[in-house]
Amino acid sequence: MTYENLLLEKENKIATLYINRPQALNALNRETLLELTDAISGIAQDDDIDLLIITGAGDKAFVAGADIAYMQNLSAMEARSFAALGQQVFMMIETMEKPVIAAVNGFALGGGCELAMCCDFRIASSKAKFGQPEVGLGIIPGFGGTQRLTRLIGAGMAKQLLYTADVIGADEALRIGLVNSVQTPEELMNVVKAIAGRILAKGQAAIRLCKAAANEGLQTDINRGMTIEVDAFGLCFATADQREGMTAFIEKRKAGFIGK
Ligand code: CAA
Repeated sequence: MTYENLLLEKENKIATLYINRPQALNALNRETLLELTDAISGIAQDDDIDLLIITGAGDKAFVAGADIAYMQNLSAMEARSFAALGQQVFMMIETMEKPVIAAVNGFALGGGCELAMCCDFRIASSKAKFGQPEVGLGIIPGFGGTQRLTRLIGAGMAKQLLYTADVIGADEALRIGLVNSVQTPEELMNVVKAIAGRILAKGQAAIRLCKAAANEGLQTDINRGMTIEVDAFGLCFATADQREGMTAFIEKRKAGFIGK
């Protein structure tokens, strides 16, 4: 599939996916979501890729939301299926085995904030702005915002943002735990790639089991979560990476992981 609304770069085991609709501040319309679905399933299956970075093309927006012009005249059933499509692809991102980092380079509003939230974690440019402005349009978030924001930053702060439609800056997003750090616009991608490099230097089988255990544990009670963890811990001992990681430690050398 050729992409009209995405750019995809692959280098050193890292895929960088740019949402690329500069004329609409990278807003997500149906075509973009369909392209995203194709790109994510390709990256998930690509043996040359171990980590995904999602960002916005240009210097103004990560993603300024779902496309309002596209949504304006939708029927209730069309709107429902648009939200279901967005939720489906964001769930693919959240549950993909490989780690996914959002490099939030500008506006991350509505569907843009929701896209950032389905990634494993978010690093923001000082120019980034976050919010769920949907109630100002007479709608509610449809790509997971009411569910992920409450889980990520707590119900009270999430409800304040959801009800007021306030747009907050990167420093406030850092304070409330929506992003992990704030970088200058010039440094954002370097910092994200440096974090990616530190992740890629570790055992990828273990990273994937960590992600699965953390994600599945968040959906269940602590006792079930602990069982998920012991099973995943046990599974590590069926990997070459566990043997190499522990042997390298004992032999006082750097481990050479193969991700299996
Ligand atoms: N959908 C469609 N087009 C959008 C858009 C969006 N979400 N956001 C921006 N654009 C378009 C603008 O219409 C404008 O197009 P034209 O040049 O053709 O007029 C272009 O992008 C540039 O935008 P602005 O001129 O508005 O730029 P600005 O710097 O003055 O303002 C902004 C930037 C504050 C981000 C403003 O564009 C804005 O408020 N955008 C909408 C944000 C929003 O409400 N997002 C939530 C959408 S609903 C949603 O996401 C639902 C869901 O969960 C599924």
